Amino acid sequence: MATFDIRTFGCQMNVHDSERLEEVLRRAGHARVEAGEPDVVLLNTCSIREKAEQKLRSEVGKLAVRKRERPDMLIVVAGCLAQQEGEKLMKRLPAIDLMIGPDNIPELPDLLADALLGGPPAVRTIFDVDAPRFLTAPHAVAGQPTAYVTTMKGCNERCTYCIVPYTRGPERYRDSQAIVDEIRVLVETGVREVTLLGQTVNSYQDPADRLVLAPEADPEDPDESAFAALVREILTAVPDLWRLRYTSPHPRHLTPSLIAAHRDLAPRLVQHIHLPVQSGSDRMLKRMLRRYRRAEYVDRLAKLREAVPGITVSTDIIVGFSGETDEDFEATLSLVEEVGHTGVFGFKYSPRPFTPALKMGDDVPEEVKSERLSRLFALSERLIGEHLKALVGTRQQVLVEGPSKARPENMSGRSARNEIVHIPDASDLALSHRMVEVEIVEAYKHSLLGRLTEASRNEAESAAPAVQPGKRRLNVVAS
Ligand code: 5AD
Ligand code: SF4
Repeated sequence: MATFDIRTFGCQMNVHDSERLEEVLRRAGHARVEAGEPDVVLLNTCSIREKAEQKLRSEVGKLAVRKRERPDMLIVVAGCLAQQEGEKLMKRLPAIDLMIGPDNIPELPDLLADALLGGPPAVRTIFDVDAPRFLTAPHAVAGQPTAYVTTMKGCNERCTYCIVPYTRGPERYRDSQAIVDEIRVLVETGVREVTLLGQTVNSYQDPADRLVLAPEADPEDPDESAFAALVREILTAVPDLWRLRYTSPHPRHLTPSLIAAHRDLAPRLVQHIHLPVQSGSDRMLKRMLRRYRRAEYVDRLAKLREAVPGITVSTDIIVGFSGETDEDFEATLSLVEEVGHTGVFGFKYSPRPFTPALKMGDDVPEEVKSERLSRLFALSERLIGEHLKALVGTRQQVLVEGPSKARPENMSGRSARNEIVHIPDASDLALSHRMVEVEIVEAYKHSLLGRLTEASRNEAESAAPAVQPGKRRLNVVAS
């Protein structure tokens, strides 16, 4: 048995993969280190931007120093960078003992067993294209009422700047029944809100073709994905699931049937969507190969807002992509203003290996990228500030996740629109994992303060403790 530690870099998908890494290791008899230095350090890496790669290098550098004193300590590199670089990285950073790609997590225990016996360095980065495996893991031991569930992996888009299609491979979809079953069991263990995860989550196709397409879906339309049917199926089959979210959808798969599903399934299908747009300039969108134009993005959101009034929209933006002029960037600002995004994740363009954009050049100077990014953030801060202020005085349903990190006497949770809401002086009430109604009394920079309504307080005071996630653990199964 060895002790291990896992350090996660990057996106939600990686956080999710780290849980699976942990689970396969536990099942092989290893244990997360409680104190002191672990025998095995796993770095679950990200390669979406260059910075992530630099972070890994400095982390391995530090570990290599430790390893000189403790040569039996193993360094394992997992995730996208392992997939992308494989042996090349191992040559550059010889302290690494083992590298595994995102699809090779189930093979980790065997590879690790060899390494622990003194085997040579190994690299395993094979996509499971023919028989895709989707690991489930025990729900969060952390005791959260929220959980992530994978529905698909890989990406068939070829956005010219993006490395994901090369590090995560082509799209592979999970059986819809397996998805529903996992969610059902999660709900039995106390989960109340699930976020469906996928690289382009709404391009989902049902491998077994079990799902019935909604009436609005046009089966002849290749853009009409089965995702809306999946969402309907989940919410019908698991009535005790209070909220369903998904991330990240691609705008071109925000189809009429998905919009209709939002209309029919709100509020359980939440009133928030994270819809990456990347740029507000058609010229840039074309160079990025995003396959939609600004007007289409705006139009689809207008239809979604008609179907679900008040739905909030957040987005991802890349500034300083190859050839981006001041005018292109102004178009991005005007799009963010026009849509009124209430959350903007902004990134400076970072050229990535293998991507078509490499040939286009990285011609926007670093200081221009920085200046554009800070203008974008300033706009986004204003928009979120205005949005949060407008909510003061309204009533919101909040799924309470637990004590606030900064002030444990406060409880905190999220509204259906994804705003973080703090509830003061509530630590005496068993609010965790409950849906409560609050009146918003104050807006902070990025969150809200809400007081329990009279009815909600009375209910909480008289009710039995809220459901706590069971200790029961689910087996890891490939499905
Ligand atoms: N440079 C900068 N940002 C990128 N993203 C993806 N690739 C790059 C890149 N090469 C951003 C996109 C994507 C988010 C996850 O990361 O905005 O939506
Ligand atoms: Fe990357 Fe585009 Fe696929 Fe998103 S849709 S993962 S940005 S290639």
